[in-house]
Amino acid sequence: MNNQTDAGVRSPATEAPAWWKTAVVYQIYPRSFADSDGDGIGDLPGITSRLDYLVQLGVDVIWLSPVYRSPQDDMGYDISDYQDIDSTYGTLDDFDALLAAVHQRGMRLIMDLVVNHTSDEHPWFVESRSSRDNPKRDWYWWRPARSGMRAGDPGAEPTNWGSAFSGSVWELDETSGEYYLHLFSRKQPDLNWENPEVRQAVYAMMRWWLDRGVDGFRMDVINFISKDPALPDGHTRRGGRYGDGRDHYLCGPRIHEFLREMHDEVFAQRTGELLTVGEMPGVTVAEAVLFTDPVRAEVDMVFQFEHVSLDEGAIKWDLQPFQLLDLKGSFGRWQAGLAEVGWNSLYWNNHDQPRVVSRFGNDGSHRVLAATMLATVLHLHRGTPYIYQGEELGMTNAPFDSIDDFRDIESVNHYAEALASGRSPDEILRGLRAKSRDNARTPMQWDDTPQAGFTTGTPWIAVNPNHTEINAAAAVSDQDSTFHYYRRLIELRHTEPAVAHGDFTMHAAHDENVYAFVRRANDVQLLVLGNFSDEVSRVRIPDAAQWQTAEVLISNYVAAAESDELAGAEDEIVLRPWEALVYRRPDNPLTASSPGGP
Ligand code: NOJ
Repeated sequence: MNNQTDAGVRSPATEAPAWWKTAVVYQIYPRSFADSDGDGIGDLPGITSRLDYLVQLGVDVIWLSPVYRSPQDDMGYDISDYQDIDSTYGTLDDFDALLAAVHQRGMRLIMDLVVNHTSDEHPWFVESRSSRDNPKRDWYWWRPARSGMRAGDPGAEPTNWGSAFSGSVWELDETSGEYYLHLFSRKQPDLNWENPEVRQAVYAMMRWWLDRGVDGFRMDVINFISKDPALPDGHTRRGGRYGDGRDHYLCGPRIHEFLREMHDEVFAQRTGELLTVGEMPGVTVAEAVLFTDPVRAEVDMVFQFEHVSLDEGAIKWDLQPFQLLDLKGSFGRWQAGLAEVGWNSLYWNNHDQPRVVSRFGNDGSHRVLAATMLATVLHLHRGTPYIYQGEELGMTNAPFDSIDDFRDIESVNHYAEALASGRSPDEILRGLRAKSRDNARTPMQWDDTPQAGFTTGTPWIAVNPNHTEINAAAAVSDQDSTFHYYRRLIELRHTEPAVAHGDFTMHAAHDENVYAFVRRANDVQLLVLGNFSDEVSRVRIPDAAQWQTAEVLISNYVAAAESDELAGAEDEIVLRPWEALVYRRPDNPLTASSPGGP
């Protein structure tokens, strides 16, 4: 967010572009970043000790996954005190020291805001569950058994919705005989945003963090906070045990009202340069335009999920082959949809997604090329890029052997549920190896020592054995590494206006191997090419011959192509396996090459 007018609403036409359009965000998952005290779990002093690495990379903003007090049922996304730090991560003093050190280095820090739900150990919920007439009863979603059924009977849950972490979304509280709603684990009861006291309590907490100096928030599943109060049953897939409740809680009836109210109550009167990004599973382009239209003053940008759902079937564990055409179709629609109004966020990875080089690239013979090509394509789109820790090293998925190697509640619960339904362990593990969130959560690989420089103790989840080859120490000292390539991409966003502000035109939309697009701003055009394959690929591009005489802005091959085999026809450009190439030329090359010409 930028400074606001008195009414709390910007007038976008008359103001300079928002600062976050030229920014790159780096996500830290504190549990797995750097452990300073040898207990095997990352912590705040560990992060502070590594800030200069991020300065060298050149990022502008750090997003910190939750460090609040928490029973860690969902690794901190179950918060029992919003205004304290979990002792495994440190203290509020450690937090203040980290924040000061981040600011001293000219970076900003945004917090994870998890307010769709709390922990069941949060005092609000403890009070709420204490009796049916407690004043906080209505702060959560309590409902009696389905009409005509007895609480606890099979099928007596108030709705048929299934939870994101397996099982029903309803948990029976034996004491009061009512059920409470939890879209995630049973230790993550959903807050009732219909209750104005809940909203005011959340806004007060947000103001407390901003007053402490944080620079904004990444808002966890924020498009789930408005639910249809009737809580109707969801439709059930054939053979499925639970219904899909998303129609009734995803971008629900009051979502825009709530976000606008949050803006007015928390951000409108602030003068700092803040950033708000809403995580929004299932959000459509049309909704995203509304959420990110600056005039509406809701959030600056959203995380959408379309591109990370392209390789799944009915559920995330059903593996489907990745098709480049689908990716281009999806990103192309988002670029076009938010071209005039609103803004995209761009990401391949976060703490919930498998590693992109293993997922859409090649993590074997062509790992560095694939990682840098993927980075180029993403970072050259219009939007704000997010880098997830280790992505800048080309970190890969982990070689999980058995279910005992997994820690994530979603993965562990899915395994138990799928096993109970008769699926074989091998089949279930195949899905987990490809998609488990633990792929993202193995420790950051700092060096080639036994625990990758992450901890001197025993890490809470095993380090990836490939840290002997893939690690920050090696990458920083090698100018041709993925790390330095990311550094150059970040620099380009800061220095080349067409990267941050240019418009976007897709090319070769039907080419199955090559991703190609043009960015254009004022007097400059960039042609971005990425070969998503192990093969040499030829792509037809208008003006191909002219483009190939243009300046190469960045490329992931160190040496230029030599072999005759790479010679293309007049109208095509030939790319080596996983090659990324960005050409730059004046918008009208004819005028530029012959001053005084037509
Ligand atoms: C989305 C977060 O990114 C994920 O890690 C978490 O499990 C759920 N929201 C619930 O908070």
